[in-house]
Amino acid sequence: MNKAQASNNILLQTSVILKLELIESCCHEALVGQVTFEVPTLPGRDIQICAMSQLPPKPGLSTKEGHARLLHDLANIELQAMELGFRTLVELSEEAPESFRQQLVEVILDEARHLKLCLRQIERLGHSWGEWPSHLGLWSCVSLEDSLLERLVIVHRYLEGSGLDASDKIQRRLSGTQIVGTDKVVGVIAEEEVGHVLFGSNWFREFCKSETGETDPDRVFNEILRSVFPRLPRRLERLNHEIRKKAGFSVSEISALEQIRLGQMSHA
Ligand SMILES: [Fe+2]
Ligand SMILES: [Fe+2]
Repeated sequence: MNKAQASNNILLQTSVILKLELIESCCHEALVGQVTFEVPTLPGRDIQICAMSQLPPKPGLSTKEGHARLLHDLANIELQAMELGFRTLVELSEEAPESFRQQLVEVILDEARHLKLCLRQIERLGHSWGEWPSHLGLWSCVSLEDSLLERLVIVHRYLEGSGLDASDKIQRRLSGTQIVGTDKVVGVIAEEEVGHVLFGSNWFREFCKSETGETDPDRVFNEILRSVFPRLPRRLERLNHEIRKKAGFSVSEISALEQIRLGQMSHA
């Protein structure tokens, strides 16, 4: 029997406020599995969308506007992270163990909370969601054809992993400003994101073993990274080896990422 379409779907919903109100019940429905969720080509938005390269210049962090813009960019990342996690839950996790699905929901709900923290601080600074355009660059990195292993590499280990490298630098820049509140929001997010990347690292190894019988997950990581890299955003950020290790990266995986980074630098 065909399952009915879910009556509320955060991927189709355009309002960010309604997405946040609905995310918990959507995750619950997805876990129960009695309805299906349509995955649109692009997720619904209530603000202007543009290419990453078309985003307006960022004001400096000595102004409230600069802080609000930083948080707006971060909110856009958190929103896409929430949607990408939900997309994996409804597209790819049916065969995965219940513990994976439960942990994925925890990650999704963390992203929702991070998004709320950003939106609240933007308002406190006297600005609002939608004041600047946003991109859908993260959403566009995944495809319907991805395997669960590819999704873990793309979303949790590459995209979220790149966020770990960047957050250290942002926190240092914020520590030199007089405007309060933003540093706390960024600090909470930076700390919790390590857990999200670790979730990706641990399950990547687990699925490598159980799904493919592979004894060398580092080799699989290297292979998948190179095959999906052409569709990922170019990151020139210096890798933070210490945080990467905390987030479950092996020395060999870090060196695969460094090789790719240096390769793109030499072509830049
Ligand atoms: Fe997050
Ligand atoms: Fe995350």
